[in-house]
Amino acid sequence: MPDSKKIMVKLAWEAMQRAHAPYSKFQVGACVEADDGELYYGANIENASYGLTVCAERVAIFSMVAAGKKRIRSLAVVGATDGACFPCGACRQVMREFASPEIPIYMGNRRGEIVTTMALGELLPQSFGPEFLNDK
Ligand code: THU
Repeated sequence: MPDSKKIMVKLAWEAMQRAHAPYSKFQVGACVEADDGELYYGANIENASYGLTVCAERVAIFSMVAAGKKRIRSLAVVGATDGACFPCGACRQVMREFASPEIPIYMGNRRGEIVTTMALGELLPQSFGPEFLNDK
């Protein structure tokens, strides 16, 4: 879906401009596509109590979930990097909660260009997920 990919990166880039990152000064934006095609976005939100910081990807995913959607079709992340901005490990695990390993993750740079695309399963192989618990 090349069109939604382009729009997602644009929304992620715009969200990145609204990041609250006064401590790290490292801005990140993300956009998630739900399984019904709706788009949700987020930026990293830092806190004076540093550990309370929430990454852009999680802000976007939690916005999707708060809107009543539980499945991610694709996700775009852009950061203040020249190369691809990769999602942190915690965010990969949160993606895993709401996505299958095949979904594409588009990773972009400070100019809003997609640098690389990888499947979630490549970013988080051999992972733990909800089905481990649902068997109980
Ligand atoms: N950050 C994200 O928003 N997403 C990531 O995947 C990596 C890190 C944010 C958190 C913090 O505000 C800043 O980048 C520096 O770590």
